[in-house]
Amino acid sequence: MSLTATDHHFLAAVFMFSWLITGKTVSGDIESDKQVLLKLKAHIRLWNPVVNENTFTRWNSNDEFPCNWTGISCNTRGNHVTAVDLSNKNIPGPLFRNFSGLPELEHLNLTANGIYGTIPDDLSKCRNLRALDLSKNIIEGEFNLTGLNNLELLDLSNNRIQGNLQLMLPARSCRNLVVLKLSSNNLSGPVDDLVNLCRNLHSLDLGGNNFSGNLSVQLDRLLEFSVPMNNLGGEIPSWFFSENCSLRCLDLSDNFFIGRIPKEISNCKDLVSLNLYGNKFSGEIPPAVGSLLSLQSLLLGENSFSRDVPESLVQMSNLSLLDLSRNGFGGDVQEIFGQLHQVSSLVLSGNSYTGGLLSSGIFELQNISELDLSDNDFFGPLPVEISQMSNLKMLVLADNQFTGSIPHGYGNLSRLQALDLSFNNLSGSIPSSFRTLRLISWLMLANNSLTGEIPAELGNCSSLLWLNLANNQLSGAIPPEFFNIGSNATAQLILLNQVGQTASGFSQCTNLRRWIPTTGSPLSSFMRFAGRKCEIKWDFLLNRCLPFSLCTPQVKRGAGYLQLRGNKLSGGLPPEISKMQNLGMLYLDDNGFHGQLPPQIGSLPLSALDVSKNVFSGEIPEEIGTLRRLQLLDLSYNNFSGEFPGSLSSLTELSKFNISYNPYISGRIPHTGQLATFLQSSFLGNPLLRLPIWMENGSRKLRPSRNQGQEGVRFPNSSSFCLFLVSCFWVMRRSHH
Ligand SMILES: *[C@@H]1O[C@H](CO)[C@@H](O)[C@H](O)[C@H]1NC(C)=O
Ligand SMILES: *[C@@H]1O[C@H](CO)[C@@H](O)[C@H](O)[C@H]1NC(C)=O
Ligand SMILES: *[C@@H]1O[C@H](CO)[C@@H](O)[C@H](O)[C@H]1NC(C)=O
Ligand SMILES: *[C@@H]1O[C@H](CO)[C@@H](O)[C@H](O)[C@H]1NC(C)=O
Ligand SMILES: *[C@@H]1O[C@H](CO)[C@@H](O)[C@H](O)[C@H]1NC(C)=O
Ligand SMILES: *[C@@H]1O[C@H](CO)[C@@H](O)[C@H](O)[C@H]1NC(C)=O
Ligand SMILES: *[C@@H]1O[C@H](CO)[C@@H](O)[C@H](O)[C@H]1NC(C)=O
Ligand SMILES: *[C@@H]1O[C@H](CO)[C@@H](O)[C@H](O)[C@H]1NC(C)=O
Ligand SMILES: *[C@@H]1O[C@H](CO)[C@@H](O)[C@H](O)[C@H]1NC(C)=O
Ligand SMILES: *[C@@H]1O[C@H](CO)[C@@H](O)[C@H](O)[C@H]1NC(C)=O
Ligand SMILES: *[C@@H]1O[C@H](CO)[C@@H](O)[C@H](O)[C@H]1NC(C)=O
Ligand SMILES: *[C@@H]1O[C@H](CO)[C@@H](O)[C@H](O)[C@H]1NC(C)=O
Repeated sequence: MSLTATDHHFLAAVFMFSWLITGKTVSGDIESDKQVLLKLKAHIRLWNPVVNENTFTRWNSNDEFPCNWTGISCNTRGNHVTAVDLSNKNIPGPLFRNFSGLPELEHLNLTANGIYGTIPDDLSKCRNLRALDLSKNIIEGEFNLTGLNNLELLDLSNNRIQGNLQLMLPARSCRNLVVLKLSSNNLSGPVDDLVNLCRNLHSLDLGGNNFSGNLSVQLDRLLEFSVPMNNLGGEIPSWFFSENCSLRCLDLSDNFFIGRIPKEISNCKDLVSLNLYGNKFSGEIPPAVGSLLSLQSLLLGENSFSRDVPESLVQMSNLSLLDLSRNGFGGDVQEIFGQLHQVSSLVLSGNSYTGGLLSSGIFELQNISELDLSDNDFFGPLPVEISQMSNLKMLVLADNQFTGSIPHGYGNLSRLQALDLSFNNLSGSIPSSFRTLRLISWLMLANNSLTGEIPAELGNCSSLLWLNLANNQLSGAIPPEFFNIGSNATAQLILLNQVGQTASGFSQCTNLRRWIPTTGSPLSSFMRFAGRKCEIKWDFLLNRCLPFSLCTPQVKRGAGYLQLRGNKLSGGLPPEISKMQNLGMLYLDDNGFHGQLPPQIGSLPLSALDVSKNVFSGEIPEEIGTLRRLQLLDLSYNNFSGEFPGSLSSLTELSKFNISYNPYISGRIPHTGQLATFLQSSFLGNPLLRLPIWMENGSRKLRPSRNQGQEGVRFPNSSSFCLFLVSCFWVMRRSHH
């Protein structure tokens, strides 16, 4: 449809008319902008009637001066709005369609709000925009910012935008761009042209998209070039790094680059962070890398570099993180590592080393705070020398063939926050000296052959939130003092949250996979979507929520877990369990626990409770019905008796439920509510229990059409909605790995 000449005349007339009636009253004062803001408020309220009272209290027509409203800034004359910052305000809904009504708008920040839908054309009429931040929303489709020729900063990262970037960002729109962040979307196209077109770019972040092709562009102007997790490939030509290279941060990780690293990389003297993890680079690591004296983190893991790590790394005095995991190094640990006294994180996991732990001297590195030697072929007793590494915060020796008992001296590692010795052949008992590990948050001893009782002294580990002792030969009763673990984890959580933001051994994917309970955990679904890089951040793990403001932020309380599956533990579960107020997941299955389940269990913030395959008896406590966050409840293979508690029908979050093989349970499963939607397999072997009729005769036809159970996917409240969002988010990402 095109406009005829008459149409044009008509429009011009309308325009003149409206200017005549409104022009005088509006020009020079803020009234017009104020009306737009009031419409913006009405728009937000339409989608969020209740939330955000505080933000918008001043936003009302009686207030003469909108420049003082929360989130609003004006020009110096006070007659036009120049900035709208409603970041992190929990205002999901479609994007407001009249920002162009604010003629001098320069800065628009709506990050982290759960805004969905497409970017309306209206936005490209905001010709004065210099900074546009719509990151961390659920915006989809393509965008067209033709017309935004003054943009200096554009951040659309963490959305669901798709399409070919070349078509969406014409040269004119990017000519002033200094910062462009588009990571975690589904964008495609070549990267080169972008760098060539946007002549003023300093910082380019395109990670986690579907960009492809080779890189054949010089990066001279750029300070940051970050393209992890795309489909880029080919060799890196030597002229890629010119004499004028000013890069500080180069991230090519998780792509398909091949060949050698050109020695010209030493031109980039300002490099602080170099991440080449997860490519197909080969040959030797160029000794010239050692001249990058500003470099703090060097990640070369998951490539095929040759064994000869250059001596020159010793002179890199600021090098703090070195990742040479998964490069197929076998035999002994190279001696060079023992000379890197400056390094604080050393990650050598996944290399098939068999020895050289002592001869390399790595245990004498006094500055090491994170040491990851997991997933190798080390054997023999655990080195007692590690007890002297007094700065260790993280020690991961999992997935080797270590034998013998755990040295008592490890209790001297008083700064330890994470200790993972799981998947070895360790025997003997858990040392009581661990009582001095006051800062430890993760203790992973699963899948060994540990024997004896769980030491009561572990109760002194007041930061311990994640304890996994599964699949050992531990026996005896759990001492009541034990339940003091994790009693004062708060300070530690904050600390770890900060650690989690930096690239370090803490963010190693394989570690995360071990540290997060797999079966039945509400968290396990995340691991499926976390991709090869396990991008989920610690703040998610700790808060059980990504930093989308849609998610309820207060769920920290349920972050911890206790995993005791597959031991020979016995005795009752003491009421002191209720002290573990951070406990979200409790797995006691496949042991010899007996006696009644203490009703105090109802006071825990549990989302998973598995007591199956024990000999618990007596009534199922009514109080379980108050565990409103419960997503997994497995009571199967026990000796529970008495009436089936009706209170369980108030559980609405369950995705897995099993009460099979408790032959003395009687009563009836309610016809309504969530329990009624589970399949018959959840209720096998309970002759006294009466099931809804459609389960009894196995007919699925009579089942309620709302399938909420076993296979159902439901997102009834905000925290589950968060799960849903995040799932979609990860599903959306390209999955070429
Ligand atoms: C706006 O806020 C400033 C500083 O808080 C104050 O001095 C000024 O009086 C306010 N203006 C109006 C019209 O409320
Ligand atoms: C946008 O705001 C301007 C200024 O208040 C107004 O003239 C215009 O009609 C609005 N447009 C829409 C589509 O609401
Ligand atoms: C938008 O707001 C967030 C949080 O307040 C802030 O971190 C971010 O830097 C802002 N973006 C811009 C472009 O100013
Ligand atoms: C973007 O919008 C402009 C006009 O606003 C139009 O000319 C152009 O064709 C659009 N580009 C795409 C890729 O849709
Ligand atoms: C990309 O690089 C590879 C290896 O360097 C080369 O074989 C291929 O032809 C290049 N592709 C393009 C499109 O330049
Ligand atoms: C480096 O920059 C200088 C000055 O801007 C320029 O003359 C020179 O050609 C550049 N060198 C390379 C290799 O691009
Ligand atoms: C090393 O780090 C220190 C402290 O951050 C800094 O002052 C110094 O300039 C760095 N050295 C180099 C060569 O960049
Ligand atoms: C060890 O770390 C400390 C504090 O960060 C630093 O002052 C010291 O120089 C480091 N030691 C070496 C050998 O780099
Ligand atoms: C642990 O510390 C204690 C007291 O400082 C010391 O006596 C003991 O030798 C240390 N153990 C090891 C193995 O370092
Ligand atoms: C909890 O830990 C913090 C920091 O480690 C400490 O300052 C505080 O005294 C502890 N509180 C209790 C009750 O132990
Ligand atoms: C990504 O975008 C392409 C179109 O550019 C589309 O075909 C594909 O399905 C999208 N992938 C995902 C996971 O959404
Ligand atoms: C990525 O782009 C390629 C074409 O370059 C396409 O075949 C593929 O489906 C895309 N992958 C995703 C996950 O969108």
